[in-house]
Formats: sequence, structure tokens, C-alpha cells
Amino acid sequence: MRPIQVFDDKMEGSKAIARHIAHLVKRRREEHKPVVLGLATGSTPIGVYEELVRIHKNEGLSFEHVITFNLDEYYPMRPSSQQSYSWFMHHHLFNHIDVPAQNIHIPDGALAKNHIPAFCRGYEAAIKNAGGIDLQLLGIGRTGHIGFNEPPVSADSITRLVSLHPITIEDAARNFGGISFTPTEAITMGISTIMQAREIVIAGWGPNKAAIIKKAIEANIDEQIPASYLQTHASVKWVLDKEAAAELSEMTEHADA
Ligand code: F6R
Repeated sequence: MRPIQVFDDKMEGSKAIARHIAHLVKRRREEHKPVVLGLATGSTPIGVYEELVRIHKNEGLSFEHVITFNLDEYYPMRPSSQQSYSWFMHHHLFNHIDVPAQNIHIPDGALAKNHIPAFCRGYEAAIKNAGGIDLQLLGIGRTGHIGFNEPPVSADSITRLVSLHPITIEDAARNFGGISFTPTEAITMGISTIMQAREIVIAGWGPNKAAIIKKAIEANIDEQIPASYLQTHASVKWVLDKEAAAELSEMTEHADA
């Protein structure tokens, strides 16, 4: 995949990402090796997961050797709640593929607050023990957040409890029936956790993301634009639809070119 790929619509972009992930999963299977995927939630990856489920069902791609680590979870949040990222992942992906339950890792939003620091240290250790993340899938928030790393955020941040930005709370409120019911905190991988992934694929769809995507790609690296840290990663791909890419001034290669 090229560093910035622009597709006509999010369906095409999602399929390209799914094919890329499927290729990695298949290659590792042939090598009899595990593969570690870092996964995102939200509206952005839904089409990617749909296509991965289709590839599993129609083309027999197995996920038995796949280990997953999700980026984040709201806090407080019961995993069984329909608003949890745990529920989201099972609903959109895990319930439909053959990934072993013990290979799935999602931050636990139901912990007592005083247990969170030890949990976060354990999450970092589990990623390392699994061999590190091979491919991290990301979306981007309107604040420029990746995971729930809201601005300002430092490059050396790791998995921890964070406060959500008011814009992020406003964006999430539609899934919670109003701002007063929306969590204000989350457990998230840090910028350093994300940057240690060997490969990063970040997707963005629609006009609401165009302004922040331009900043993340074209502005100087800045703690006020968390996704700008990705500029220093050796293997990052932006997968965008035309609307999300609309404000980029650099010439980007069209996916069909
Ligand atoms: C989700 C996550 C967030 C989202 C971002 C975009 O696990 O970490 O960074 O990727 O908020 O959300 P959507 O895709 O709903 O626009």
C-alpha cells in the first residue's frame, strides 16, 4: 500500500484495508506463525470488519493464529453493555470469525479505579509478550486523537486512564442518548504503544475529518495534534475517501492511478 491512498468511497477503501490485513493473516498462517493485530472501534473500521468476515466465510481465511489488542475502552463501562467497545468488537468481528477467545484483549472498563494502573502495565506487557503489534488499525477523531489520546499528548505516553475531550464526548453522545449519559474517561493505549506497531494503517472517511487529516499529515508534529506523531513512523499508510482527502495540498496518488 502507498503512504496515502485515496478511494472514491469508504467501501472501496475499507475493502483495500481488509485485503491488506487478510494477506498478512494468510501469509503468517502459511509460515505457521502467529500475527498480532491492533484494532480500533468507531464508525471508521466497520466496513473493514464486514469485509474480513466475508473473506473468512467465503474464502475460508482462518483467524485461529491471530492475537488482537484493542486500542481503547470507555471508563466506566461494563463489557456486556451494548455501548462498550467490547460489545462492538464481538458484534462486528469476533462473533463471526474463528479467533480464539483467549487471544482477544480489550481494555477492561469495569475495573475499580485503583486497579487500573496495574491493568495498564499488564496490557503493555501482554503486547510485548505476544511479540509486539504487527499491524495497528486506526481511525482519527476530530480532535486529532488516535486511540483516545487527546491533545495535548506526549510521544512517550503508554496505556492509561485518560479524560475525553469535549468534542469527543459530543461525537460519542449520539450513541449514549445524550451528553449527560456519555462517559468522560477511557482506558487507551498511548502514543508510544501505537508507534511501536511495526505497521500502521489509519483510515478516514467523510468531510468531517478533512481538516484534521490535513493537519495530521501536513502540519508540524505537535502534541496538540496527536495523529501528527505518525509522521515519524517508518511504515504508516493513510487510507482516505475523496472527501476526507479534500483539503490535502500535497499531491496524493489516487488508488486507481
Ligand atoms: C476507536 C478509537 C478512536 C476512533 C476515532 C474515530 O477505538 O480509538 O480513535 O478511531 O474517534 O471515530 P469514528 O470512526 O467513529 O469517526
